[in-house]
Amino acid sequence: MRPVKIAPSVLAYDLSDLRGAVGIADRGGADLVHLDVIDGHFAPNITFGAGTIRALRKNSKLVFEAHLMISEPARYLRDFLDAGSDIVVVHAETVDGPAFDALHAMVHSFGKQIGLALKPGTELPEWAEERLDRLKTIIVLTVNPGFSGQKMDVGQFPKIERLDRLISGKGLDVDIEVDGGIDSSNVSEVAKAGGNSFVAGAGVYNQPDPVLAISKIRQNAMAARSGA
Ligand code: DX5
Ligand code: ZN
Repeated sequence: MRPVKIAPSVLAYDLSDLRGAVGIADRGGADLVHLDVIDGHFAPNITFGAGTIRALRKNSKLVFEAHLMISEPARYLRDFLDAGSDIVVVHAETVDGPAFDALHAMVHSFGKQIGLALKPGTELPEWAEERLDRLKTIIVLTVNPGFSGQKMDVGQFPKIERLDRLISGKGLDVDIEVDGGIDSSNVSEVAKAGGNSFVAGAGVYNQPDPVLAISKIRQNAMAARSGA
């Protein structure tokens, strides 16, 4: 069974102290740091870019995952790899099969991994189904991309279940990562639907004790995955 992973999204923290946000992820025993890069074009917000990731990289050994909510991933991919991202996730709405192949080749030339993200209205495209074994992760967005602190759309659960059947059926270890509105109170539903990797912004950083919030999310997710 694919392992439970927790990925705090630093976008929800005090943006003048992203280093502190990464420190919290470290102390909470997170598996990944989720870095939401938004260009104001693909989604209606502008966050941070490769320079910020490069600066944060010096402060942590955790796996850095760059969630690229940008219209032209090919134009900037190298910058995000150079900056020290370990996993680069591009949106299915911004690429097709051949474009993905080119991105995949570049990511692998850096010895890094690639993932694919799906907006709420997007299903896994056929070209991606044919390339599943090349993906490290599939991010299912349970909110519209742009902002932290939105409510999770449970209407995305059937998509998570379909992906779980598809990936488990093929015996692949592609993570099913769910992103948007997750906290310790609803993570078990997401885990039961088939998610194994959980992004949490407000669910970690807007809690009274963010370090504790990470372990609570993990505990509840693991209990649900093991059927407790
Ligand atoms: C949405 C981002 C999410 C978001 C998560 O555009 O992809 O990663 O920041 O934050 P919460 O968990 O607060 O919804
Ligand atoms: Zn994200």
